Amino acid sequence: MKTEVLKVNRKNPEKGKIERAANLIQRGELVAFPTETVYGLGANAFDARAVKKIFKAKGRPADNPLIVHISDMDMLDALVERIPEKAIPLMEKFWPGPLTLVMKKKRNVPDAVTAGGNTIGVRMPKNRIARALIKKSGTPIAAPSANASTRPSPTEANHVYEDLSGRIPLILDGGKTDVGIESTVLDLTSRTPAILRKGKIARSDVKKVIGAVVDHTQKKRGKVKSPGQKYRHYAPKAKLVFAREGISAVRRFISKNKEKKVFVITHLERKNSHRGAYRTLPWGKKSNVSAAARKFFSLLRRCDQEGADVILIENPPRKGIGDALYDRISRGGKRIV
Ligand code: TXA
Ligand code: MG
Repeated sequence: MKTEVLKVNRKNPEKGKIERAANLIQRGELVAFPTETVYGLGANAFDARAVKKIFKAKGRPADNPLIVHISDMDMLDALVERIPEKAIPLMEKFWPGPLTLVMKKKRNVPDAVTAGGNTIGVRMPKNRIARALIKKSGTPIAAPSANASTRPSPTEANHVYEDLSGRIPLILDGGKTDVGIESTVLDLTSRTPAILRKGKIARSDVKKVIGAVVDHTQKKRGKVKSPGQKYRHYAPKAKLVFAREGISAVRRFISKNKEKKVFVITHLERKNSHRGAYRTLPWGKKSNVSAAARKFFSLLRRCDQEGADVILIENPPRKGIGDALYDRISRGGKRIV
């Protein structure tokens, strides 16, 4: 299969291009598209055969459920048994946006989407291309991140191409994504709502709207409620290590690993600040954690492309989205200090 990459205007998506993509969705094919978080690999959520193609194209384990994306509130009724009371103010405040809500699913949602479970994760993305595609398709779209399973999530169309070319017919190219890491996943089916995956919308943000919220992102293997959290994830090919603080530890690591190509992702602005490193790549200003989050997956891919043996990350501050970013870094790598 030849994979076409189609550039689409992110502010004002061209009608004809969206129609072509929607047509593929309606015919049971896959389309990769940008969302504000990362690129998604979409299929008609009510077409079990199409949804199964997603798992095949990504090499995704069948027990990991997919998030379903909607463009309008009307689409929600077809997916969930009932809308939980606490969901309403959350939807009002954070939708469209990077918050996935896990609710009781309706029976007619194919098992392939929910990995056989009785809950479903739903979100309304903000990206206009995503919204236009869902609306034109006239159906909710099930979409995981459009990377090959275990690879870093794609934040640009060429990342999707790198992983999935030859496996899917179309990628809508809407440029770089805004947030850069995946949505917050919030379970509304447990007694106390629970964060299953960290994202831009923090536990404290949710708490302000609905009160008590627990953090279930650190649960040990076997007990996880969000199956995605138990797999090796966000992983570059190179070994990933990170330092929470102190450039002295970074320097020590570099000098101990002289025979390896160590790439350092750093806040330091002067190029020669990490003498001995094979390459240094900039996070940008330390105060701008959002910019770091936006760049993260792309930097990992760049290190791989340029042949890194080890990627050494100076961890950005854990404030704001920095906490979710730290979550991704720590799942992908090992802490050295
Ligand atoms: O930002 C995002 O959420 C992106 C874009 C494309 O929307 N999507 C995404 O999908 O990251 P994926 O499949 O890569 O990650 C979905 C996560 C997984 O950790 C999965 O286990 C969890 O959400 N999840 C999905 N449905 C769930 C459910 N019913 N119960 C618990 N966890 C669920
Ligand atoms: Mg993913």
